[in-house]
Amino acid sequence: MASKVFAVDEKAPPQEGNTLEMATVTLAGRDLCSIADLSRSEIAAIMELAHSVKASPADYRFSLDARQMVMFFEKASLRTRLTFEAGMNTLGGSTMFVDQTQSPLGERESLADIARNVERWVSLIVLRTYSHETITEMAEYSKVPVINALSDLEHPCQALADFMTVEERFGTARGVKFVYVGDGNNVCHSLMLTAALLGTHCTVASPKGYGPKQEITAQALRIAGESGATLTLTHDVVGAVRGADAVYTDVCTSMGFEHEVTKRAPIFKPYQVNEALMAHAAPHAVFMHCLPAHRNAEVTDAVLDGPQSVVFEQAENRLHAQKALMVLLLGGGLNGSRDTATT
Ligand code: CP
Ligand code: NVA
Repeated sequence: MASKVFAVDEKAPPQEGNTLEMATVTLAGRDLCSIADLSRSEIAAIMELAHSVKASPADYRFSLDARQMVMFFEKASLRTRLTFEAGMNTLGGSTMFVDQTQSPLGERESLADIARNVERWVSLIVLRTYSHETITEMAEYSKVPVINALSDLEHPCQALADFMTVEERFGTARGVKFVYVGDGNNVCHSLMLTAALLGTHCTVASPKGYGPKQEITAQALRIAGESGATLTLTHDVVGAVRGADAVYTDVCTSMGFEHEVTKRAPIFKPYQVNEALMAHAAPHAVFMHCLPAHRNAEVTDAVLDGPQSVVFEQAENRLHAQKALMVLLLGGGLNGSRDTATT
């Protein structure tokens, strides 16, 4: 993010110790390219507001009154697109969607030129891309906040909703034993970083050669050292799941890697989340997946549709978590106050 014009109303200085009040100041005008962009108190504030937005949506009906958002998506989406659209609409703003699946962003004109145009019309840019650098570059040039709605490196909005779900289930994410099984991909990266910030004990069990990126692991370990979280990487899936409170998986082959489906299938077979694997988790354990799922590939129908599955709670929470995120990044009104910032 370059220097930004903050659209925050004049307000009393935040009370020390009031996490949400502090975050209304520190997050206003910021980007969310990576979960690691957030401090521990900022992510806690997003969570706090997300729970509040979910409990009392009418209180936030005008929080982003008349704001405009544009979404440029290079990849397919159901949940992310619709929850951003529904979220902005129910906060009083409106959205525009640009399908970039046929021509990558930056091909027709430079990212800098797109940013310099778009920032004059809208308050927020939401991007789903192949290259993570497309997002960081747009954020660098844009004066309005940029949100990563999935890149090849991270999926931060997914992780916010997922840990909101963990908090709902367990009261807190701190100390929860969270196990990610499968490809060390974009979703896995954002989950590792979120777990580290929130004090969650995270284990990632992946086949050899498919673990998370070293740079993300190093970042997560550094954050975990400050928060009291732990992070363990392993190839031993049964050992990882033993006693878990939450077992999470994602597709073996993410968007953009479709040419590897046949090669990956046998490598990931021992990492399938099925009833036999779930039996090693704690009896109260939940099963999590960002969706879409490839049924009976990375997870069986019995687990996905079974009593431990919280996948549709996760999908619902995409809406509430992103509403909280948008309100904070755009300096919107809280607690029923109408947003008075100009676009
Ligand atoms: N989980 C998720 O991001 O879903 P979509 O790809 O449908 O947006
Ligand atoms: N890892 C998956 C997540 C989809 C929401 C992908 O990038 O395709």
